[in-house]
Amino acid sequence: MNLNHKLMLITGASSGIGAATARLAARAGARVILVARSRDKLEQLAAEIRRDGGQAHVFAADLTDATIVATLEKTISAELGAPDVLFNNAGAGRWLYVDETSMNEANDMMAAPYLSAFYVTRAFLPAMMKRNSGLIINMTSIAGYMSWPGATAYTAARWAMRGFHAGLRADLHRTKIRTMLTAFAEVKSEFWQNNPGSAERLPGAQKMIPTLTSEQAARAILTGIRWNAPVVFAPFMLWVILTLNYLFPQITEWLVFNTGHKRRWANG
Ligand SMILES: NC(=O)c1ccc[n+]([C@@H]2O[C@H](COP(=O)([O-])OP(=O)(O)OC[C@H]3O[C@@H](n4cnc5c(N)ncnc54)[C@H](OP(=O)(O)O)[C@@H]3O)[C@@H](O)[C@H]2O)c1
Repeated sequence: MNLNHKLMLITGASSGIGAATARLAARAGARVILVARSRDKLEQLAAEIRRDGGQAHVFAADLTDATIVATLEKTISAELGAPDVLFNNAGAGRWLYVDETSMNEANDMMAAPYLSAFYVTRAFLPAMMKRNSGLIINMTSIAGYMSWPGATAYTAARWAMRGFHAGLRADLHRTKIRTMLTAFAEVKSEFWQNNPGSAERLPGAQKMIPTLTSEQAARAILTGIRWNAPVVFAPFMLWVILTLNYLFPQITEWLVFNTGHKRRWANG
């Protein structure tokens, strides 16, 4: 897809991968709709994009609230029309063991990324269906394919995103609305400050996969959009590890478990 003049809604656009994707998409000619809770950060990014000659619109919203998302859809549709591209990227979640995770935090981690992606897609899909065109991009993570110690609810939510994507792709297979799944390993972004304690639990085996900057992740996403790719995994070493995991899951599990966070359990 050529993004020139396309309307692209990006959730989680106030920082990290979402903000970097918005900058690049705007540079490619897209009119970007920036959505997250932090209005100030969104306004700053929009101003930067406009200074650069691009078009950006700001809508601050907590996407874990279905009523807010429904109102957001009405406002955006009335002011700007139906998006050509939806990027379900908003998400958060600290890496914790099950017993360290409060019930509220477990709910929050399912609420964003998974439920927010569901609500946003559900709200905007009817208008996209009417036009029978467009692209829906869902963000998951290497955690949607492999698991390591000390990140249980985070892992579950990334598997939920992968499952949501698979179901949506099946739903849409007779339409002209395309889907794309994106997954990365470690990306340098505000994620690590926003979710304290997580970086300390990166398994040692993660070092086999080069870390990306948010800009590199965004570039991979833009390339995927341009080439109509069904999935975007980056960097190349992530493909290698996921292929190894598919063929020899015992080997990758051994590697990740044994280089992962070591915890002293009450009985050990
Ligand atoms: N960084 C990595 O290593 C990495 C690797 C693979 C996948 N990912 C995934 O990529 C996505 C983006 O990550 P990132 O690295 O860019 O992290 P980030 O810098 O922390 O960005 C997360 C974005 O999500 C928004 N958000 C969180 N909760 C929200 C809510 N309830 N409503 C609306 N917006 C919400 C945040 O904005 P507000 O706080 O302003 O709402 C922020 O813009 C996440 O889903 C993450 O799991 C990250």
